[in-house]
Amino acid sequence: MSHGPATPLTATASGPLTGEAHVPGDKSISHRSLILGAMAVGETRVTGLLEGQDVLDTGRAMQAFGARVTKDGDTWVVNGVGVGGLMEPDDVIDCGNSGTGVRLLMGAAATHGFSVTYTGDASLRKRPMARVTDPLALFGAVAHGRSGGRLPMTVVGAPEPVPVRYATPVASAQVKSAVLLAGLNAPGETVVVEREATRDHSERMLRGFGAQIETRETREGREITLVGRPELRPQTIVVPRDPSSAAFPVCAALIVPGSDVLVPNIGLNPTRAGLFETLRDMGADLTYENPRQEGGEPVADLRARFSPDMKGIEVPPERAASMIDEYPVLSVVAANAEGTTVMRGVAELRVKECDRIDAMATGLRACGVTVRDGADWWEVDGRGPGCVKGGATVAVHLDHRIAMSFLCAGMAAQVGITVDDAGPILTSFPIFRSLMEELGAVFTS
Ligand code: S3P
Repeated sequence: MSHGPATPLTATASGPLTGEAHVPGDKSISHRSLILGAMAVGETRVTGLLEGQDVLDTGRAMQAFGARVTKDGDTWVVNGVGVGGLMEPDDVIDCGNSGTGVRLLMGAAATHGFSVTYTGDASLRKRPMARVTDPLALFGAVAHGRSGGRLPMTVVGAPEPVPVRYATPVASAQVKSAVLLAGLNAPGETVVVEREATRDHSERMLRGFGAQIETRETREGREITLVGRPELRPQTIVVPRDPSSAAFPVCAALIVPGSDVLVPNIGLNPTRAGLFETLRDMGADLTYENPRQEGGEPVADLRARFSPDMKGIEVPPERAASMIDEYPVLSVVAANAEGTTVMRGVAELRVKECDRIDAMATGLRACGVTVRDGADWWEVDGRGPGCVKGGATVAVHLDHRIAMSFLCAGMAAQVGITVDDAGPILTSFPIFRSLMEELGAVFTS
């Protein structure tokens, strides 16, 4: 869904940020709860679902595929149609801003014998879909899209799908998940091999829903084998809070003098927690309090305090997949640390909701920060706390994480920073503004 007119927002330096930040549910797990719930037989109940536009769009799509998605108090209820039971939608599926939504749906529907046309907003219509439709073709699905494999696109599903073995050429949980979801309605074993481990929520949740799925480490990487045509059993799901959303109050607290913020109940699945490790490597005062296991996932309360002595580092490239959405806000912390932060092996950042290296580099330069960049790397020169001049209006290019990153930058800059459009924040973190204001942030519309 496209949103209304642009809504600029300015963040200016405030007093310390203090208190507790209860961030919303995990976006990746929320999408998967609705999709897998729709492919189980019976009623799946979900609490803590992220009610951001991306996830709501996926919920609407699952209804178009024949599932019933309703809300009962705080609980989302999905009445599923079973593996192989999705029905042909009678209209175009509009996934709005969400790459995860469209790619996972393409996978889930590709092994059903009907056609679906997908579209999205101006950002999503620029993003590459061949990375998903290439492996889906191996199942027997045929895609017809615009040039460069872009949306709008019709995928003609395979009426008699065959199972697939596929080594992903890019480190992408969306691609891996699309293949696994397609494999659900193919007979026999579908195998995905990934060279670098990406977030494993699909595997964990498929197992939880009763699918037979196994992961083993091989010389080529992580090999995931799914037995097709299982009967998925409905689940009761408590969605953990999103580490990618926690990143914003955490990073803001590290760079705003005097801050002390607790962000409770954050999932620290190792395939997602790379940012927090990196911040600690930089010398951040970031602790994991009350570490525990919940629903098979490591969880802790994050405590972040103002950290005037952070140093620039070279981020280990092998960590990229576990913090891929967090490089924009890391670059803001880097600009407030002492020395150069080097980020390599991050070409994927150029095909997210926007070209995130370009958007951050351009905006940071406008705020007085030195940034160098190449095809798959960038470097930010930090000059210590409070050294970002700010005072610029930056373009967010329909990208929620660019908007939130620059608003965090504004909280620690000498002069406020304006984002040209805060609207995209609604896709993943609808309560961002009120949550940050309660901690002490100062925004003006
Ligand atoms: C996601 C995977 C990542 C990430 C996105 C969510 C997922 O994308 O950037 O925000 O839920 O599978 P890629 O698969 O393109 O790396």
